[in-house]
Amino acid sequence: MDDPVVVITGASGGIGETTAYELAGRGARLVLGARRADRLDTVAAATGAVTRVTDVRRREDVQALVDLAVETHGRLDVLVNNAGVAHVRPLDDLDVVGWDEMVDVNLRGVLHGLAAALPVFRAQSSGHVVNVVSTAGLRIVPDQVVYAATKNAVRTLSEGLRQEAGPNLRVTAVSPGVTSTEFVTKSAAPQHLLDMAMPPAAVARAIAFAIEQPSDVDVGEIVVRPTAQG
Ligand SMILES: NC(=O)c1ccc[n+]([C@@H]2O[C@H](COP(=O)([O-])OP(=O)(O)OC[C@H]3O[C@@H](n4cnc5c(N)ncnc54)[C@H](OP(=O)(O)O)[C@@H]3O)[C@@H](O)[C@H]2O)c1
Repeated sequence: MDDPVVVITGASGGIGETTAYELAGRGARLVLGARRADRLDTVAAATGAVTRVTDVRRREDVQALVDLAVETHGRLDVLVNNAGVAHVRPLDDLDVVGWDEMVDVNLRGVLHGLAAALPVFRAQSSGHVVNVVSTAGLRIVPDQVVYAATKNAVRTLSEGLRQEAGPNLRVTAVSPGVTSTEFVTKSAAPQHLLDMAMPPAAVARAIAFAIEQPSDVDVGEIVVRPTAQG
């Protein structure tokens, strides 16, 4: 890697945090956002990252995170739209508050990232958008329907952006399967899912693989799941 400048949302834990460590080890210069400042400080201390408290539901927060990258490093090479939430409930529960949060974080948060980063990428004539989606959108299962819908909306966005992108902008959608983060361990996931979960480093390496390809190679989709996941 040629010390790319990488913004990661949701970098205070789980896949985002592990991706920060993975990319820092490969020479990336990191700009990290999430809501929990203390957790961001810990990751920054280990990676040399700059950070900004960011709620991706707020467009101005995501804009400020991208602005921080440009102010600090003079450019932005990769935006990893990783922040995400899941509320696992049947539709009949009418968890409209949870539905709204999933739409606001998982979909609108990604749109906020695009709105902030695309003008920078266009001005530079280079850039890479990495969207973290989910295998929940590939194999639809009960109780994860709205979550899967938000992730598949981002999958659609990724492919549409790729088609509009032209030769200077790369777009990658990474679909993790069950991954051992608070996302799963703090949920009511059944024991067999906890037992099969893969480490977040598996996803971080997939993201690094997409980023470190030559600039004329666009890795469009990566699915990385535990071998045991059905
Ligand atoms: N773990 C899995 O099995 C799995 C499988 C497929 C896909 N994914 C996807 O992978 C991504 C990362 O999930 P994870 O497993 O690493 O979960 P996690 O450990 O719960 O981490 C989620 C991250 O998102 C951040 N976040 C949540 N709401 C946010 C908001 N409004 N604004 C900014 N940041 C926010 C959290 O930080 P703060 O709370 O500090 O804001 C945290 O850093 C998500 O998009 C998730 O949908 C996970």
